[in-house]
Amino acid sequence: MDLRNRYAAVRKHTLALAEPLSDEDCGAQSMPDASPIKWHMAHTTWFFETFILERMERDFAPFHPAFRILFNSYYNGIGEKHPRPQRGLLTRPGMAQVRAYRADVDARIARLLETSPSAELDMLLTLGIQHEQQHQELMLTDVKHLLAQSLLRPAYMELPLAPAGMAPPLAWLPFEGGLTEIGHDGQGFSFDNELPRHKQYVAPFALASRLVTNGEYLDFINAGGYFNAALWLAEGWDWVRTQNLKAPIYWFQDEKGAWQEFTLHGSQPLDLNRPVTHVSLFEADAYAHWAGARLPTEFEWEYAAAQEAVETGSLHPAGATGDGLRQMHGHCWQWTSSSYAAYPGFAAAEGALGEYNGKFMLNQYVLRGSSCATPEGHARASYRNFFPAGARWQFTGIRLAQR
Ligand SMILES: [Fe+2]
Repeated sequence: MDLRNRYAAVRKHTLALAEPLSDEDCGAQSMPDASPIKWHMAHTTWFFETFILERMERDFAPFHPAFRILFNSYYNGIGEKHPRPQRGLLTRPGMAQVRAYRADVDARIARLLETSPSAELDMLLTLGIQHEQQHQELMLTDVKHLLAQSLLRPAYMELPLAPAGMAPPLAWLPFEGGLTEIGHDGQGFSFDNELPRHKQYVAPFALASRLVTNGEYLDFINAGGYFNAALWLAEGWDWVRTQNLKAPIYWFQDEKGAWQEFTLHGSQPLDLNRPVTHVSLFEADAYAHWAGARLPTEFEWEYAAAQEAVETGSLHPAGATGDGLRQMHGHCWQWTSSSYAAYPGFAAAEGALGEYNGKFMLNQYVLRGSSCATPEGHARASYRNFFPAGARWQFTGIRLAQR
């Protein structure tokens, strides 16, 4: 697919993601970490307007002068920003105006591609497309958090989830390791945080063949895992006790005490064979400790991932099937024990776009793989996602390692 068609397809997909939602759904913000759907739709458009049209369009005039501030997420190089926790207060512009903003910028990008093609335009457009795909995943996780606030427990997608088949027994797959090459190999697109490719020594290790299931995680809960300080990192123990947490974020017990899970497909009886998801790094680490294992490093994960193709599925993590290394992609992001830091020789781009990744390399942990909410074609073995240790509204799961 050429770049113009890829742009059109990705832009269209964002609109499709908003389709099942009402205008009220699209305007609300459930917590400072999450953004309204309407904001995502405008901000992704702002990215193209600010980083492409403003630089390259002759006689550039903004769609609306205030949007430069309203929909700037975190780029200090661009200037002022509307405060993140107050994105839900933006009842204006309304959805109709945001849709008009999208259409206007799309038409101008198409015109620019025709009249002034350049390698720089292709590069910026590709970055904008990848950026919009990242926001497409956030649209799903943010709206899930929002819908979970209502006792109506509304389904984003009415399609029911069929029970998963019996999870295969967890097998330990050995890897030799050695001096390995880590980072993106330069074939196709990557974000700057995947570069430069460099050498990394990986000691021999074993990786779990599949993700930890809800059933296994329930055993940890029933064994008192959330109340056993010995299993937790100090900060994790403070986190879990201060908030009095007893289960992953979307688990709840019905009036008969049976475990249910809120999903984008509505509330479901907890499926013991599906992977546990929406756990923090603290929970993942405590579980690994309880299970006599540990979390993998991001290097172990990438080294092993070369062995499995990308899978895609529904909007909830599916059960594992078959032999070998399963569920590396397309189900749950997998916490690693690696701090999110620059690779040796990392250099951020010049100007405001250099703020894309580099400035977040502190107090966050790397997640590898991709999830059921990751858009098709967006995942790769060298991809580095990152969140603070307490974050759990993303589709985050647990893959164990040993040795
Ligand atoms: Fe963004």
